[in-house]
Amino acid sequence: MIVGPIAHIDLGALRHNLAVCRAAAPSSRLWAVIKADAYGHGMGHCAAALEAADGFAVARVQEALGLRAIGIDKPLLVLEGAASEAELGAVLSLQVELTVHSSRQLDLIRTQLRANPPPRPQRIWLKLDTGMGRLGLQDAEAVALIERLRTRTSPLELAGIMTHLANADDPTHPMTASQCEQARALAERFGLPLSIGNSAGILAHPAARSDWVRPGIMLYGGSPLLGQAAAALDLRPAMTLTSQLIAVRELPAGAAIGYGSTYRCPQPMRVGVVAIGYGDGYPRHAPTGTPVLIRGRRAALLGRVSMDMISVDLRQIPAATVGDPVTLWGQGLPVEEVAEQVGTINYELLCRIANRVRLVYDEQAPGGRL
Ligand SMILES: Cc1ncc(COP(=O)(O)O)c(C=O)c1O
Repeated sequence: MIVGPIAHIDLGALRHNLAVCRAAAPSSRLWAVIKADAYGHGMGHCAAALEAADGFAVARVQEALGLRAIGIDKPLLVLEGAASEAELGAVLSLQVELTVHSSRQLDLIRTQLRANPPPRPQRIWLKLDTGMGRLGLQDAEAVALIERLRTRTSPLELAGIMTHLANADDPTHPMTASQCEQARALAERFGLPLSIGNSAGILAHPAARSDWVRPGIMLYGGSPLLGQAAAALDLRPAMTLTSQLIAVRELPAGAAIGYGSTYRCPQPMRVGVVAIGYGDGYPRHAPTGTPVLIRGRRAALLGRVSMDMISVDLRQIPAATVGDPVTLWGQGLPVEEVAEQVGTINYELLCRIANRVRLVYDEQAPGGRL
């Protein structure tokens, strides 16, 4: 047995979740968001499994270059756009669609295209800030840019208007409707395609089911909605993170466990040591009580998370023995439940899986970690 954590990736779950997404937004085209190494699941394999998407969205130019380098020839969208001349120089010949969130970005693209006219027009999506307050143009700036683009002949094609929702995870939040309305008004004024919905938007806000949607977390089987279980949304976890018990100890009452001795055994007890820690991306702030799954039963984490190990309470699982698999999240233990204990979100736990965790796919597909 090779000891150490494994993230089992169920590519069938990815395809199922994509179908759930299609069913929720049947008239929309779909950018599958595979940034951050496909939320920790391995960009190359996920791109292959999500082949039925209309295109892939990534955050950065570097990620788009990586996808082209492994032969992904589907439409690609860079959500943050290009930040420098060097990035533009690398990406402009690769038929990658770029977000433009500032007039500076547009000027950069124009200058580069003048120097190196492309064989086909460069497609750009104008990003509108409708309340996220992060990247994006104010309404008036967007109008001015669109009018500038319309009056000049340029090797640029305005692909559409995009905006990002700030509170879609709360189905009752009033801001989502006004964000959708503002973006829709601009797109309709100029007869342009519109892209709004992230996972939460797609599932909970009909107005966000725009011409193009951009699901991320739901493809990986994570719930995008506050307080709603993924299973209730018919989403299947794509990642199950497991490791093994590497020691089973009988500790006396009063024995301290781990750095800082933050946990003391209240009675003589069986304690298991699991080969996973913050060096693998398991959250260091997971408190005593965070659940793991052994032999189909919950066991509670005890004391502090170390770099390579955690300790768990085996009082309720007397048969547990060295070598037993331990599930940290995934099948049987929703990542949302662990995230809530830790005070974070499913996105962060999935994305933070470290490089030394082996990704094992349930079927052969080209690619892997980029
Ligand atoms: C601009 C943009 N669109 C879409 C997504 C996908 O969001 P989600 O994973 O919530 O579906 C993200 C993710 O952060 C994003 O930044």
